[in-house]
Amino acid sequence: MQAVILAGGLGTRMRPLTYTTPKSLLPIMNEPMVERLINTLPKEIDRVVIAASYMVDRLREHFKENDIGRKVVIVEEKEPLGTGGAIKNVQKHVDDTFIAINGDVISSLDYTSMRDFHKDSGGIGTISLWEVKDPTRYGIIGFDSQLKISRFLEKPAPKEVFSNWINAGVYILEPEIFNFIEPDKIISIEKEIFPPLASEGKLFGFKFYGFWVDAGTPEAYLSAHRTLLDKGVSLALSYPYENVRIVPPVLIGDECWIGENSEIGPYTCLGNSIEVLSETKITNSVVLGNTLIGRSNHLKEVIIGYGCTIEDEVTMGSGVVVGDNQILKKGTTVPDNSTMGEM
Ligand code: GDD
Ligand code: MG
Repeated sequence: MQAVILAGGLGTRMRPLTYTTPKSLLPIMNEPMVERLINTLPKEIDRVVIAASYMVDRLREHFKENDIGRKVVIVEEKEPLGTGGAIKNVQKHVDDTFIAINGDVISSLDYTSMRDFHKDSGGIGTISLWEVKDPTRYGIIGFDSQLKISRFLEKPAPKEVFSNWINAGVYILEPEIFNFIEPDKIISIEKEIFPPLASEGKLFGFKFYGFWVDAGTPEAYLSAHRTLLDKGVSLALSYPYENVRIVPPVLIGDECWIGENSEIGPYTCLGNSIEVLSETKITNSVVLGNTLIGRSNHLKEVIIGYGCTIEDEVTMGSGVVVGDNQILKKGTTVPDNSTMGEM
C-alpha cells in the first residue's frame, strides 16, 4: 500500500514561521511534522508520495539528507492545485488502494484497522472521523448507523452545522477516485469531490478515539505539543542543570544551556542550541532552535522561530509567534496574539 501526504499548502495560518520553513517541516517535539507522520505509518507502506508545492526544494533537500527508511517520492505542483488537484496529480505514482493524509494532522488513528474497515465497507473512500465541540473550522460529516456518509460540508457557518463529527484529514481511497477528479485543475477534494460522492453513498466514515490535532494554527501547534508531552515523551528530571527548575512535562533538545533561577515548563519544548539566561520563565511554549533568550523574561504560550535573540526583560503576551531571525530589544513589549517578522 502507498501513502500520499498532502504537504503543499502555503501554511498561511502559521506565518511568519512558514515564510522560511514549509509547514510540513516545522518541528513537532523537535521532529519535522512530515517525518513524524511518516514514522507513524504501518510498516507495509513502502512508498510515500509527498504532494508538495510551496517550498518544495526544502522538502527535497530534507529527504536527500535524511534517510527515513522508506522510499519517498516528492511530486511537485507548479502552482498549488488544492487538495483534490494534488491527489489527481500523483495518480501515476499510485497503483492500488492508498492512504491520503493531510500533512498537518497528528493523531492516534490506527491505519490498519481503518484499512480493514475500508475493505469491508466496499466504498470508494473511507474518511477518518473525529468528534469535536465546535466543528466550524473543519469539514463536517453526516452518516448513518452503518457509517455510510450522506453529507460532507467544508467549514460550515455555525447555523449550518449538522454534525460534530469532522473530517480528521486521513482517507483511504480506491484508485477509482481519480475518475472523479479532472486533471490540471485547482480542485478542493473537500468542497468539490466528497460532497457529491457522499450524496451518492460512495463514502464511509471511520471513527476513532484517543487524540487528534490539526497542528496548522499557532494555538493548535501548541496544543499538539501539550498532547504529546502529556503522553510522556518528556525529559527526565535528572537533567544536569544547577539551580534551575524543570517542571515536567518538558522536552529539551541538544546543546541547550539554562541559566540560574530559570524555570522551564510545564508543557515546554526547546529545540537544539537554545540558551536561556537567568531568572527567566518559559511555560506552555515552543522554541524552535539556535535562539538566545535573555534574562528576566516570562514567556507563556508563545512560539519562537529559529535564530532569534530575545534580549533581557522583554514582556511578551500570550499567543505571540516570533518568526525566524528576529531580534527583540531589551524591554520591548509584544502584545498578546501578535506576530513578529512579517515579510
Ligand atoms: N499538495 C498540496 N496542494 N497540498 C495542499 C494544497 C495544495 O494546493 N492545499 C492544501 N494542502 C495540504 C496542506 O498542506 C495540509 O497538509 C492539507 O492539505 C490540508 O490543508 P489545510 O489548509 O491544513 O486545511 P484545513 O486544516 O483548513 O482543513 C482540512 O483539514 C481539516 C482537518 O485537519 C480539511 O481537510 C478539513 O475538511 C479537515 O476537517
Ligand atoms: Mg490543516
